[in-house]
Amino acid sequence: MAFINSSVVEDIKLRNDIEQVVSGYVNLKRAGSNMVGLCPFHSEKTPSFTVYTSEQSFYCFGCGAGGDVITFIRKIENLDYPSAVEFLARRAGIALELDRNADKDSNRRRRVLEMNRETAKFYHRALFAPEGRKGLDYLLGRGLTMPIIKIFGLGFAPDSFSALTTHLRSKGYTDSEMSSAFLCGISQKSGKAYDYFRNRVMFPIISVTGDVIAFGGRVMDDSKPKYLNSSDTPAFKKSRNLFALNYAKSACSERLILCEGYMDVIALHMAGFKNAVATLGTAITAEQARIIKRYTKSVIICYDADEAGQNAAHKAFRLLGEAGLECKIIKVEDAKDPDEYIKKFGADAFANLLTKSRSEFDFRLDSIMANEDSSTGDGKIKILTKAVQLISEFSGASQREVYIHKVANMLSLSPEAIRHDVEENISKMKVRQKKDEFRKLMTSSEGYGDRINPDVARNPRAAKAEEAILGILLLHPEYMPQMIAKGKLPNPSDFFTEFGKKVFSLMLDLSTDGFNESMLGESLTPDEMSRLEKIKMSRRQVGTNTTEILLDCIKTLVDAQRKNNRDIADIIEEKRSRNN
Ligand code: GTP
Ligand code: MN
Repeated sequence: MAFINSSVVEDIKLRNDIEQVVSGYVNLKRAGSNMVGLCPFHSEKTPSFTVYTSEQSFYCFGCGAGGDVITFIRKIENLDYPSAVEFLARRAGIALELDRNADKDSNRRRRVLEMNRETAKFYHRALFAPEGRKGLDYLLGRGLTMPIIKIFGLGFAPDSFSALTTHLRSKGYTDSEMSSAFLCGISQKSGKAYDYFRNRVMFPIISVTGDVIAFGGRVMDDSKPKYLNSSDTPAFKKSRNLFALNYAKSACSERLILCEGYMDVIALHMAGFKNAVATLGTAITAEQARIIKRYTKSVIICYDADEAGQNAAHKAFRLLGEAGLECKIIKVEDAKDPDEYIKKFGADAFANLLTKSRSEFDFRLDSIMANEDSSTGDGKIKILTKAVQLISEFSGASQREVYIHKVANMLSLSPEAIRHDVEENISKMKVRQKKDEFRKLMTSSEGYGDRINPDVARNPRAAKAEEAILGILLLHPEYMPQMIAKGKLPNPSDFFTEFGKKVFSLMLDLSTDGFNESMLGESLTPDEMSRLEKIKMSRRQVGTNTTEILLDCIKTLVDAQRKNNRDIADIIEEKRSRNN
């Protein structure tokens, strides 16, 4: 039974134009009758992500992501099919009558969020109870004030194996729910649930919509691991959330400060910098960069002063830049991180530091200079080579001019020489990029290394025929009832790959109520939907997609399968005769 009927899905799609929806996430530019942009699903410098307005579909030639507007929303918002349909319905102002029980994922999500909220209250209460005294002393000892502790809802996880587990059980949550939320672990030996966070000060992670989605817990001494963080749960993905964005979102429209640690963010907020956020114990992701883009124009990276922090800044510059954000960096001096800096030198000193932020170019040039000796000829040449590469990575010609002059001045060389090297390097890079793209295209059209349909490599001929059948039927769903009536369609078992079998049997099931491709999304993952988009794309390029060709392909599939079986039989027969 479908979760929602096909005419409603069709209506929702009609009222969510793919170009408009995608534009909310990707900077699209017109290219002929299509729109192109930088793919939001993989990292790239030249656009291979294409939106086909007439087909209302998208496809990325770089990573193979593709599908309709529902698949796009599933992938980019990380939603299951029903939630993505609901999301688009809400966007178009369509009221949906949903059977809430059919929507298992969103039910599980809701339970986890309720349980997290209960847990945050439990930890916060514990911080002010006698058992949490040491937690409170620790936080106050690090300079936090009572108001800031309350604003951030900090807490304490008691030094007990089952304090929280027992409490949540009394509220009606099961052990398996608690373990899915990473609030308890299950003992291998006894099968019993135990509290995951014990004897730690607790930092609740709150989403921009105000839900408690996860926790970080810190030890109060030097023991290891320093932090435990929730892993991904049905209601939480580390890579899609930022610590304190719920507070920062209303203070960061001009500029946002990105740090590494929870304690840095809390120290900054306490000092009046309410636009600070941090990633959740991992390097920044492209998804996080895009989320930041929704709330601000520019970002100041303020990572730890150590080598790890400075290296992480390189990646942050790249991802934030690709998301279209203006980006600068500051480095705290004589302190290991922003938290310590503010404690040592005060809020005014930090504000002063902000005025001295450096651009990506200056930051990277400084790090080149720091690693080479500019007083020797050899060192100078090394610096020059790296600087030329660095300048080549910027796409604006006038911007490059400014950098060329800067480097020329620094190394006492003529700008002409550097400009010449930069131009030569850029044309080399272009040739290399063309070659790379060609290679990618060639390898992606083979079945090798195919995650979605690993069976393709075993019999490419059968797989090709199979893809052609699926492609034609997806482009011409009206053929299906005709062919079924004439008894001309194969059985799902005639299909060669597991993926083909699955897709074709779903299509047959759906064809009884009038086939609608979008509804395949209810049973297929976004990656599988992308594969179908690729199959359609290659059929569309062929042009002729008639029922005669369809019949030919069916025959080829059946023959290729038979031949393959015969090949295997021959091999077995040959082995047998050799052994005799
Ligand atoms: P303090 O050391 O108390 O000042 O904390 P901090 O927030 O400044 O942490 P730090 O700069 O050491 O690390 C940055 C972030 O990385 C932390 O906020 C955590 O999210 C994460 N992190 C640090 N240590 C660990 C660890 O041992 N395990 C995990 N999973 N995450 C960690
Ligand atoms: Mn710190």
